[in-house]
Amino acid sequence: MPDLSTKASVFLITVILAAALLLVWCSRLLLGFHFGSYAATAVVFTAGIALSDHFALRLAPRTAVNIGTTLELGILLLVPVPLATWVVFLGVSLGKMLSHRRWFEVLFNASSHAIAAFVAGEAYMLAGGEIPLPLQIDTLDIFISLTVLIVVHWIVGLTMVSGIVSLQTNQPYIPITYQMSKSVALEHVSLYLMGVLTALTVQENLWTILLLAVPLGIVYISLQKSLQIRQLTRGAVEKMADIIDRRDPYTYGHSQRVASLAERIAEEMRLSWEEIDRVKAAARVHDLGKIAMDRTVLEKKEILSEEEWRKMQEHPGLGAEILQNFPDFQDGTEYVRYHHERWDGRGYPEGLSGEKIPLGARIIAVADSYDAMARARPYRDALPEEKVISIFVDGAGKQWDPRVVEALFKVLGWNTLLLHVPKGKQKALIKLAE
Ligand SMILES: [Fe+2]
Repeated sequence: MPDLSTKASVFLITVILAAALLLVWCSRLLLGFHFGSYAATAVVFTAGIALSDHFALRLAPRTAVNIGTTLELGILLLVPVPLATWVVFLGVSLGKMLSHRRWFEVLFNASSHAIAAFVAGEAYMLAGGEIPLPLQIDTLDIFISLTVLIVVHWIVGLTMVSGIVSLQTNQPYIPITYQMSKSVALEHVSLYLMGVLTALTVQENLWTILLLAVPLGIVYISLQKSLQIRQLTRGAVEKMADIIDRRDPYTYGHSQRVASLAERIAEEMRLSWEEIDRVKAAARVHDLGKIAMDRTVLEKKEILSEEEWRKMQEHPGLGAEILQNFPDFQDGTEYVRYHHERWDGRGYPEGLSGEKIPLGARIIAVADSYDAMARARPYRDALPEEKVISIFVDGAGKQWDPRVVEALFKVLGWNTLLLHVPKGKQKALIKLAE
């Protein structure tokens, strides 16, 4: 497990061992069990779960939904819990192996899904649930037991995934769990309800699952197409930002570098995943508004005339206006609009100050300034690191949010003490930081 922290590795091994014990226990319960018609159902669902992994849809950078959820819930309503646990374990293992995942990812995924299936299945039985599910869901009891099944399955599955993410990234568990569940809640609920429908249809005749596959396939293809269009649109907007950078040889790759530094600062500040993604996306296109600016102004070595300066100040607002039309960037438009505001209120376009400036914009401002200083410009060479440090020490609390500057120092491995010592002593320290 090369890239896992010790804590995450211990958690992973614990989950795998727990699942191993659970599977032994399930096998014992199945000794002498007469499989009969359950055998065909088990095989079909194992294959279905394995194949579904290949068709997972990535809805956002960190969230994917998988039709396997439907089948994993469905099988719990069709065959006894110990058999369903094995079906889920084998199906997920096969699926992950087919997509060439590393051995510990295969085992962890299969184990956590099997545990979720077993616990949810047992909770369903305890709540009075029946297998197979009665064809008419017309009593409150059935409704309650199905709700228990879905809720427990979701909570147990989520607990294990967010557990390992929280241990690996050192981020608190509850917010991670909340973020992970919130972003795909609707999709998850519909996948679960489809699981109930699948079970109802399939228990009459197993092969009706093929009939179900047709509408599901159509939904999948159209979802995939709309996701593709979104990705293409996002790519096109980012390309535009790159072309703007390329107009000036000195800013080539600027937006990409600012995006990756802004992301690292946002991570250092322990922002939520969604927020980190939002900051990164906005930083990637923060200068899009420069599309309306004359090349001569952008490349000008001399001081800008009043008219040129006025035009320059329009670029954040214009960028925000363009981005408003693209769903992937809508949430971050305010970060683009205010990326030239200053902490002391002397920036543009509106002269906002302090925390009135959205945090994302304050982060982009720092990343943007760093990249400008660390690279050569038409009118000067790249500044030496010592100089960049002293500018940031000086500007923290004036031009930039001191908290963001502190995060930048941590990201770049600079001594954060510099930001807290009296002015007179900073110079000596900066020299040491070199
Ligand atoms: Fe800008």
